Amino acid sequence: MNLIDDTKFLTEGWDTIEGHVLPDNKTCLAFASILSMTQANTVFEIGFNFGHSAYTFLSVNRRVRVHSTDIGHYPHTEVNAGKIKDQFKDRFQFTLCDSHQLVPDDVTGYDMIFIDGDHTPKGMVQDMDLCAESGVEWMLVDDYVRCMGDLYPKAVIDNQLDRDDFPYRKVREFYYPSTDRLNCMVLLRRYENV
Ligand SMILES: C[S@@+](CC[C@H](N)C(=O)[O-])C[C@H]1O[C@@H](n2cnc3c(N)ncnc32)[C@H](O)[C@@H]1O
Repeated sequence: MNLIDDTKFLTEGWDTIEGHVLPDNKTCLAFASILSMTQANTVFEIGFNFGHSAYTFLSVNRRVRVHSTDIGHYPHTEVNAGKIKDQFKDRFQFTLCDSHQLVPDDVTGYDMIFIDGDHTPKGMVQDMDLCAESGVEWMLVDDYVRCMGDLYPKAVIDNQLDRDDFPYRKVREFYYPSTDRLNCMVLLRRYENV
């Protein structure tokens, strides 16, 4: 599957400011593998931007339902959420919110949470701690081996994995093309549930 042409409508007429996945066949295969490995039927997403990752999850597997959230830094975000809602109907839900205002109950009951919102070290830790408190079995964190300015998200995520009160283990890294460069997501699994 290759969704590059299918997703052109998401960026048409807008300036691309922050990165997003490029849903070519390699990316689609990675997303499909993640859904197959986790058997996730419900995905909660922090960081929707243009909607490429949500669109890809919804397209590579027809059983999946996605609830995306975004703080709304960009005007295209809410517009595109409406377009994806029109296309995927009740398989898609969008909430405009700051993930740091969410409480564990807000993200409880999902099979997997995809974290791709606030990329500051503090923001990433807050999002990962929120997910851990919710008890979610699978966590997918973007930008794992990628240097962004002086921020190296891998160090932040690895530090979380070293904590005794963060009961997740690394399962696999997935490399895929994004608008910025080759990017990497890391899939974590809660070991208390294993
Ligand atoms: C890298 S983009 C997400 C890309 C998207 N997942 C994709 O690949 O198609 C990051 C997004 O996170 C949002 N964001 C930043 N801080 C946030 C926060 N505290 N809560 C929710 N969303 C946030 C930004 O508005 C931006 O749209």
